[in-house]
Amino acid sequence: MAEKIVITSGKGGVGKTTVTANLGMQLAWKGRRVLLCDTDFGLNNIDVVTGVEKKIVYDIVDVVEGRCRAKQAVVQHDTCKNLYVLASNRSRPDKYISPQMVRMVLDSLSGLYDYILIDSPAGIDAGFHRAAASAESALVVTTPHISSLRDADKVISVLRSYRMKKTGLVINMVRGDMVVEREILAPREIGEILRLPLVAIIPENDGVFLNRPRGEAEKAFRMLAETVAGGNPGVLDATRKYSGLFGGLRRSLRKNL
Ligand SMILES: Nc1ncnc2c1ncn2[C@@H]1O[C@H](COP(=O)(O)OP(=O)(O)O)[C@@H](O)[C@H]1O
Ligand SMILES: [Mg+2]
Repeated sequence: MAEKIVITSGKGGVGKTTVTANLGMQLAWKGRRVLLCDTDFGLNNIDVVTGVEKKIVYDIVDVVEGRCRAKQAVVQHDTCKNLYVLASNRSRPDKYISPQMVRMVLDSLSGLYDYILIDSPAGIDAGFHRAAASAESALVVTTPHISSLRDADKVISVLRSYRMKKTGLVINMVRGDMVVEREILAPREIGEILRLPLVAIIPENDGVFLNRPRGEAEKAFRMLAETVAGGNPGVLDATRKYSGLFGGLRRSLRKNL
């Protein structure tokens, strides 16, 4: 049976879909069978981020409404063969699908995968509950910015009622140079404020924006996949590049960009 993990945040645009896609891909490269399920009916884009959008024929609403079987709605990634995507409702964002319905669909697919990663919409209303109700673990994504932290805090308190087996914190878009200069909170401080175990630090990186993480960002996603799979690689030190003499040079170069 698959371990079902919801990826949530509170605030939009902080990287839930990016984390879902890249964690899924890294787990798949490690040989795990992974299904990405999009439960964001409004800003649904996991199919686009993973590049499978042209292959999608059915979505989760078609499954719930009996137009196809769950297996028929799942598409396989072209190059990463262990990665599969179940798209969310593409045409009717206001359609109501209950958390129980999503759970039934995912339970019926659970035996086929090692992990089901559920990409949640922003906020803590119906869409959030639709995503969280099927999961046994959660990853809360935040950036180091205050507005994102406040929304993450709200989500964490709502998540408590779900009694997840594990909840971990992913801090995304971390600028190591700004941490060194104390312009933003250090990831460790954020973990303490939100009182969640820190499972990943993902640096801000142009490659992520282009859906092709490279270098440090790719390494950070690989470390997260290892943590999720039960290893203990720790988290990326995003400040290392910016410490010492050469780090100081890199900091001033980045500032003057
Ligand atoms: N670590 C990162 N570095 C740079 N850009 C990022 C990073 N993570 C996400 N992004 C970009 O930020 C935008 C929002 O990310 P997305 O994953 O869609 O957020 P959400 O799903 O939480 O709304 C996207 O354009 C994405 O490419
Ligand atoms: Mg998203």
